[in-house]
Amino acid sequence: MRITAAVLHEHDKPFAVEAVELDEPRAGELLVRVCGVGMCHTDLAVRQGLPLPLPLIFGHEGAGIVEAIGEGVTRFAVGDHVVMTFDCCGWCPQCLTGQPSYCAEFVLRNVTGRRVDGSTGATADGGDAVSSRWFGQSSFASHAITTERNVVKVDAELPLELLGPLGCGIQTGAGAVMKSFDLRAGQSLAVFGAGAVGLAAVMAAKLVGASEIVAVDLHANRRELALELGATSVIDGADPDVAPTILGKANGVDCCLDTTGVPSVIDTAVAALGPRGRLGLVGAGGGQMTVQPERLIGRSATYILEGDAVPQVFVPLLISFWQRGLFPFDRLIRQYPMDAINDAERDSLSGRTVKPVLIPQP
Ligand SMILES: NC(=O)c1ccc[n+]([C@@H]2O[C@H](COP(=O)([O-])OP(=O)(O)OC[C@H]3O[C@@H](n4cnc5c(N)ncnc54)[C@H](O)[C@@H]3O)[C@@H](O)[C@H]2O)c1
Ligand SMILES: [Zn+2]
Ligand SMILES: [Zn+2]
Repeated sequence: MRITAAVLHEHDKPFAVEAVELDEPRAGELLVRVCGVGMCHTDLAVRQGLPLPLPLIFGHEGAGIVEAIGEGVTRFAVGDHVVMTFDCCGWCPQCLTGQPSYCAEFVLRNVTGRRVDGSTGATADGGDAVSSRWFGQSSFASHAITTERNVVKVDAELPLELLGPLGCGIQTGAGAVMKSFDLRAGQSLAVFGAGAVGLAAVMAAKLVGASEIVAVDLHANRRELALELGATSVIDGADPDVAPTILGKANGVDCCLDTTGVPSVIDTAVAALGPRGRLGLVGAGGGQMTVQPERLIGRSATYILEGDAVPQVFVPLLISFWQRGLFPFDRLIRQYPMDAINDAERDSLSGRTVKPVLIPQP
């Protein structure tokens, strides 16, 4: 079928919104009409970094309606409303013990742009294969082919154009706090980088009753939003005394979440940890860490993928928090027509928009 997709042809060129031919879903796959898709910083960061098979369709925070199902699909039907998330195999030890983001096939299924067998179901005008399996979905498009394992069914009454970001950025920040750290009432958290991931962490920390929630960011508008969403204090990331300020305020925090991926910020986060503190890293910066081993005495650090979430359990939970007014993630979102994807990227990089959501044209 003919679909419209935002295709990246070269690493440093704008996205091109154009017609693409998409094959029918294969066995175990679903065709989803995309109603809204979040732009995650990962879509933008890998542009420069990873050696991806271009042309490629990014987008891994899609939500939409199932339009067709492949052979053998039993858990979903045409007309179901779904949020798409990361893909996993379902059968490796990590999947079977409830840690699907550490699936043995995570890289193969999510960041190669291809199916596990190397194929893709999309072709550009002119005949070039277009990689269309980014995070098992490639949803910067009017339609996406996904699998039974990486979709979460949601209530048909919910506004689908809002829900896509729950599938990656929002679940990553909230999951880091609620699952990875298992932050308890009365504990303290510092979040470095108040973008979509960091602000989701702030909201989750407020929800669990954290005592101190410190948000650090370079942008004044994001620090302001952090205060509105539950941060108890904010610090300008350009301030040379970020760590001493946090140490003075909270005697070192129980947990630090770095979403910047900047090595010097990670050093600061380590310095801001209190005794037995825990550092979570999620940022895709590519730099080298320079932490002195002794700085981690009694402390720990881990790189968290997708907030350690099982999306089929965690996304509905976040939706229920949102419905009860406890998790207002919609305040991070600004909608753009899919045609304006390059404006959305510009506004994300400038800090103006925290979470762009692209709306495909009917
Ligand atoms: N590990 C995962 O599973 C996972 C999932 C989603 C996103 N990510 C990654 O998480 C990171 C955050 O994603 P996002 O969508 O929130 O991005 P974002 O760009 O919206 O947020 C990053 C924030 O960090 C701030 N920042 C940068 N340098 C800083 C500094 N020196 N001091 C203080 N703040 C600074 C920026 O101002 C920005 O607000 C990205 O690297 C993304 O690729 C990882
Ligand atoms: Zn697996
Ligand atoms: Zn993401």
